[in-house]
Amino acid sequence: MRVPDVVSARWLVTGAGGMLGRDLVEVLREHGEVTAADRARLDITDTDAVAGAVAGHDVVVNAAAWTDVDAAEADEAAATAVNGHAVAGLARACAATGAKLVQISTDYVFSGDATEPYPEDAEPAPINAYGRSKLVGERAVRELLPHAGYIVRTAWLYAPHGRNFVTTMLRLAKERETVAVVTDQRGQPTWTRELAQQVAALGDAALRGAAPPGIYHGTATGQTTWYGLARAVFTVAGMDPTRVRGTTSEAFRRPAPRPAYSVLGHGRWRLAGVPLQAIWRDQLIAALAGRSAP
Ligand SMILES: NC(=O)c1ccc[n+]([C@@H]2O[C@H](COP(=O)([O-])OP(=O)(O)OC[C@H]3O[C@@H](n4cnc5c(N)ncnc54)[C@H](OP(=O)(O)O)[C@@H]3O)[C@@H](O)[C@H]2O)c1
Repeated sequence: MRVPDVVSARWLVTGAGGMLGRDLVEVLREHGEVTAADRARLDITDTDAVAGAVAGHDVVVNAAAWTDVDAAEADEAAATAVNGHAVAGLARACAATGAKLVQISTDYVFSGDATEPYPEDAEPAPINAYGRSKLVGERAVRELLPHAGYIVRTAWLYAPHGRNFVTTMLRLAKERETVAVVTDQRGQPTWTRELAQQVAALGDAALRGAAPPGIYHGTATGQTTWYGLARAVFTVAGMDPTRVRGTTSEAFRRPAPRPAYSVLGHGRWRLAGVPLQAIWRDQLIAALAGRSAP
């Protein structure tokens, strides 16, 4: 079998203007040639445009998505058009050209009533419209690209750029004396940069024929609650963590229900020879210091 020259791999990143997309583009530039397609350049619901954009690439990483979890509740069809049907279009385009597809998915495909980390083959049972829409996308990739489709489920993403929980906490710390944060949702806060590096390593391994297709869980190691993360943000930023007070999901209702337990198992990375991500707290320290996690 010919071993492709990984250094010259041609990558297409869709959703390149998003929080993860931006880091993917930067990281993948060290792994080959990158076409950065933000929404203005490529709307992934445009099937013809997708076919044209995929041509000439070895790996497509789809970071485009409808990510407004609460808004998806009110318009599930629109969320599914992007997170489900458009992903099928990408998978068909990859099948036609022989490209690999890395589809970024979510912990929200699970119900959150587990007490131990979800393994990659746990049965999905989403409890909100966003989770259902992302599951449609996962199933399309598995069906249409059984030999070249990679699903990387991630969760609790943040970056120093963009709107996310960590930047919100840093803003609120300036505006208020105390901040109330839920103590009853558990997960794995993940820096987009760490995930981008793991996705790049997976793509490289896929091109070498060393990574079995299917599902991988791309989250930080360790686990905490939103409250634990908020306290860590305050501590790492040099502020008093007792300014973060605990509250419950019941007292902090939102249109879409959130899974209580979103901890994902990482067993399958071993098959691809790709290292696990750093512990969430080390990622946070590195992200806020603007350097790589240890
Ligand atoms: N953020 C999290 O905590 C989290 C957790 C689990 C999984 N994920 C998954 O991680 C991936 C990246 O998320 P993110 O946090 O980087 O989200 P993000 O910042 O909202 O980025 C998503 C990008 O997709 C673009 N987009 C939306 N509809 C599109 C379309 N029809 N065609 C092309 N682009 C489109 C958006 O453009 P506009 O801004 O112009 O709409 C945005 O730039 C997504 O698959 C998401 O489901 C995220």
